[in-house]
Amino acid sequence: MENTMANSKPRRERYRPQYHFSMRQGWINDPNGLVYYDGLYHLFCQHYPDDTTWGPMHWSHAVSDDLVHWKEQPIALFPDELGTCFSGSAAVDWHNTSGLGVDGRPPLLAFYTAAGDCVEPPKPTTQALAFSTDSGRTWAKFDGNPVLENVIGANRDPKVFWHEPTQRWVMVLYLDVNTFGLFGSPDARTWQELSRFEVPGNCECPDLFEMPVAGDESRRKWIFLSGAGQWGEGDCARYVIGSFDGVTFTAEFGPIPIEDGAWNYSTQTYSDAPDGRRIFVSWSSTPFGGACVLPGNPFNGQYRVPWELSLVETDVGLRLARQPVDELTTLREAPLQLPAGELAPGDHAVAGLDSRSFDIECVIDPGKATSIRFRAEAVEIVCYDVTSQTMRVLDREHSWPLESDGTLTLRILFDVNCVEVFGPRGLKVMSSVYSPKTLENQDETKPLLSVGVTGGPVRVDQMNVYPMRSIW
Ligand code: FRU
Repeated sequence: MENTMANSKPRRERYRPQYHFSMRQGWINDPNGLVYYDGLYHLFCQHYPDDTTWGPMHWSHAVSDDLVHWKEQPIALFPDELGTCFSGSAAVDWHNTSGLGVDGRPPLLAFYTAAGDCVEPPKPTTQALAFSTDSGRTWAKFDGNPVLENVIGANRDPKVFWHEPTQRWVMVLYLDVNTFGLFGSPDARTWQELSRFEVPGNCECPDLFEMPVAGDESRRKWIFLSGAGQWGEGDCARYVIGSFDGVTFTAEFGPIPIEDGAWNYSTQTYSDAPDGRRIFVSWSSTPFGGACVLPGNPFNGQYRVPWELSLVETDVGLRLARQPVDELTTLREAPLQLPAGELAPGDHAVAGLDSRSFDIECVIDPGKATSIRFRAEAVEIVCYDVTSQTMRVLDREHSWPLESDGTLTLRILFDVNCVEVFGPRGLKVMSSVYSPKTLENQDETKPLLSVGVTGGPVRVDQMNVYPMRSIW
C-alpha cells in the first residue's frame, strides 16, 4: 500500500484526492457532458487550465471504462468569439436526427452555454452545439451556433435528452432566479420553447429524467434535479419528483436536498448509461474556493465519487436512494477487520493505518455510549451523538435515527479532504469536504484513523476498514 503521507512525497501529490476525481492541472467546477458510449464513460469538466482559480471556461475531458479510473484526454471545447464554454450535457444521437453522423455511426452531441458576457466584445449568453463523429475522442463545434438564442439574462446549463414518446429532443435550461425552461427540437439544431416552471430556492445545472418506482418499470416518475439551492452557503443540489408529458413538468413532491451534508453541487446524471443505470456525479464546491487550494498545488477542485440513484418507497413517501457505484469496491485493499466485541471509552479501535483514504463498513450497537467518533489525525470527520441520534460530518449536523434493530450501520468513504457517509440502502447520506490545510502541521507519523466512544462501551458487530488504492 502506498504511504501517501510519507514525508518524502512532494506535497502536491500528498494532497491529491486518492480516489475522487480531480484534474492534474488548473481549476475545475461542474461536471459536464456525462455520456456513455461504446464501453466508455465520458466526463467533461468546467475547466480553467491556466490557474487554480475560476477563469475562462473550457471543457476538459476524461474517460473511464469503470467509473473509477479516469484518463485525461485533450481539452474538448475552447472559448471562441461567441463566449467561453459554460456547463452543459451530452447524448448519443442514435437516430442521427442531427445529420451530423458519418459512416452510419451515431454522432455524439454536446450542448453547452456560450457565455457571451465573458468575451470581448460582450454578447448575449446563448446555447451551442458541438459534436463528435469518432465516438467522443475529438469534438467540433457546429457551424450554425448558437442553436438557441438568448431567452433571458444569463440563461445556461442545457441538459438535453431524447424523449421517445414525442420523438424529439428535450432541453431543460436554467433561465433566471428560480425559473427553468423546457425546449423541444426534432434535430438538435432548431429549438422551440415548450414551457417554463419555477422551483422555489433552486437554480443552475438542471437535469430531468424518468425512473422506475422501486424497480417496477410499469410505475415511473420523473425526477427534476437542479445543481444548487442557495449557492455559496454550503447548500446542496435538490430534486423534485413529478411527471412530464413531453411539454410540461408537473411537480408532485419536493424540492428535497440531494443529501443532508454540505457543498454537493452542480450535479448531473449520465446519458445513455448501460442497463438503465442512473449514475450521478457532482462537484465538491467549498467555502474556501475549491477543494485543494494548498500553495504549490497545480490543481483545484474535485468531484464526489459517482453515485448510483434509484427511486424507492419509504415511510415518508418516494425518495432517491444514493449509493456509491459498486465499481468502487475494486479499489479496496485487504481490510483491517476488528473482531466483534466491546469497545470502551478511551479505546482507539483502528490505529496505525497509514493510508489517507479508506472505505469503512461498520455495524455498532451503541449500548450506553453517548457518542461514537471517527478521527483522521486531528480532524473529527464523523461524530454520531447517540443521545440525540444526530450525525455530524465535519461541520454539518443532521438527524440520523438508529436502524430499527438499534444499530448504527454506516459506510464511510474517506479521502484526503472529503468524507461521504451512507446509511443502509442509501436512504441517509451526508458528505462534506474540508481543506487539507487542517492537516498541514500534523505529526505525520501518528496513526491516522481512530475510532473512539464516550459515555460507555459499545458493541462492535462489524468494523471493516479497507485502505483504498489510488486511482492515479
Ligand atoms: C455552476 C455554474 C453554472 C455555469 C458554470 C460556469 O457552478 O455557475 O451555472 O454554467 O458554473 O463555470
